[in-house]
Amino acid sequence: MKLLVTGGAGFIGSNFILYWLKHYPQDSVVNFDKLTYAGNLENLKEVENNSHYKFIQGDICDAESVNVAMQNIDAVVHFAAESHVDRSILEPAPFVMTNVVGTQVLLDSAVKNRVKKLHHVSTDEVFGSLSLEDTNKFNERTLNNPRSPYAASKAGSDHLVRAYHTTYGLPITITNCSNNFGPYQFPEKLIPLAITNLLEGKKVPVYGDGLYVRDWLYVEDHCRAIDIVLQKGRVGETYCVGGLTEDINNLAIIKKILSLLGKGEEFIEFVKDRPGHDRRYAIDWSKIKNELGWQPRHSFDEYLLKTVEWYKTHESWWKHVKSGEYQKYYSRQYD
Ligand code: NAD
Ligand code: TYD
Repeated sequence: MKLLVTGGAGFIGSNFILYWLKHYPQDSVVNFDKLTYAGNLENLKEVENNSHYKFIQGDICDAESVNVAMQNIDAVVHFAAESHVDRSILEPAPFVMTNVVGTQVLLDSAVKNRVKKLHHVSTDEVFGSLSLEDTNKFNERTLNNPRSPYAASKAGSDHLVRAYHTTYGLPITITNCSNNFGPYQFPEKLIPLAITNLLEGKKVPVYGDGLYVRDWLYVEDHCRAIDIVLQKGRVGETYCVGGLTEDINNLAIIKKILSLLGKGEEFIEFVKDRPGHDRRYAIDWSKIKNELGWQPRHSFDEYLLKTVEWYKTHESWWKHVKSGEYQKYYSRQYD
């Protein structure tokens, strides 16, 4: 099989390419990525000389280069996106451009080139916010209620993907997954930001009361879910993908990281809250389990420890990433 992976130089995309070439060494992967601030070819050093891997630098909004990349492709796995909620609040326009317009350009090209399958990687944030008081979880029947520009742009992309299936018969699948963590995650997201700040002797900024809840999924479990849905998922269907945590809040996560790094609670700094901050996310992953036999395998505590170890042993990776543009973003967001 020849795969086109968009956004393959980002966090999940690069983990997915490494996963795919390890499990299916006979396949070929084309990585199409614009290399925004979040794209980093360092993540793919291990495969850069593999003859089954090819990198093309390009923008999914540019129909011409997307069409070139789409030649002889069997299946597309679409990760490319602007992915950070806080940046979408500071500047929504690139989110609409890449996540909505870029997805539409990609879909046009997939129809034109008659690809056999397009898998779209989306988020649970399209469903909105759950309350701390109830025990509800998001599932495939939950209505969209996006509350940040990021979430709204991802919801827009999901609708377009489904519309291209209905209107043009494009064979698609979608996964809406929860918060990922693991190696190569850009240190703007909570877990790598906390780990790397602490490794630098800095405090961890906690928004509001810190009692916000996310559902945490180890990135390799996510890659395996995409693999199974891509190969066995029913065409036109959406699958929710979540992890093994049960309503753990941000403060509890920070405290675990502090303890893994031998630091005290004086390293917690409560800062102003994110506008429109979603209170709680939780995923019911019974559909993908019952239909396709997938379930998460990686326990949160064990893999949080492994993730902390990874950042400890990859200091040059994150120090490089935290220089330059990152500094400007950090002071705009936190000062
Ligand atoms: P990321 O920000 O780490 O990486 C995004 C990648 O897309 C980067 O390599 C970037 O260069 C590339 N990109 C951005 N705009 C592009 C464009 N116009 N053309 C081509 N490439 C472009 O993101 P991530 O965390 O790896 O997320 C990947 C996907 O998974 C996204 O679609 C995101 O919405 C979704 N998702 C992420 C999470 C999470 O916890 N990280 C959770 C649910 C869903
Ligand atoms: P984040 O990693 O940005 O993912 P998302 O907003 O997509 O869920 O944030 C995870 C949670 O951590 C969310 O409730 C916001 C919170 N948070 C902080 O408290 N401080 C921070 O510096 C960041 C980046 C996030």
